[in-house]
Amino acid sequence: MKKEEMPVWSARLEIGLQSIDEQHRKLFELAATFGGSGDQVRVMKTLVALCDYTREHFREEEYMLAAHGYPDLEAHKLEHAKFRGMLVELLERAKCQSLDQTADDVRELVGGWMYEHIMQRDLDYLPFINGKKSGSGKMLCQ
Ligand SMILES: [Fe+2]
Ligand SMILES: [Fe+2]
Repeated sequence: MKKEEMPVWSARLEIGLQSIDEQHRKLFELAATFGGSGDQVRVMKTLVALCDYTREHFREEEYMLAAHGYPDLEAHKLEHAKFRGMLVELLERAKCQSLDQTADDVRELVGGWMYEHIMQRDLDYLPFINGKKSGSGKMLCQ
């Protein structure tokens, strides 16, 4: 997998909440490291880091949504759970497939699923969070 084919973070992905944007950016940066050459051990370690960081991000995002009483939280959590499941499956599969295939899978998961999730589902909650901003005083994620 060539480096330029990996998912790249761009400002288009910013939703306007600093902490969440930084987490999304870090996920893309981690995914981008799968491009180019590497060895199995390094790739597996990076994959574990990607799983861990994704779990952390989802937990923080869900916490923020719960704190604001976001009405679609359960549906959002289900999407997160689905993605976590796909990452765990990839973690298993990556032990016995080529590094190129694993990089392809990461590209699909982050450049495909995660990209769509941010642009649709995460952007969906933004007006709600912003709407609550003035009334609720302290903003958890900024
Ligand atoms: Fe997110
Ligand atoms: Fe999300």
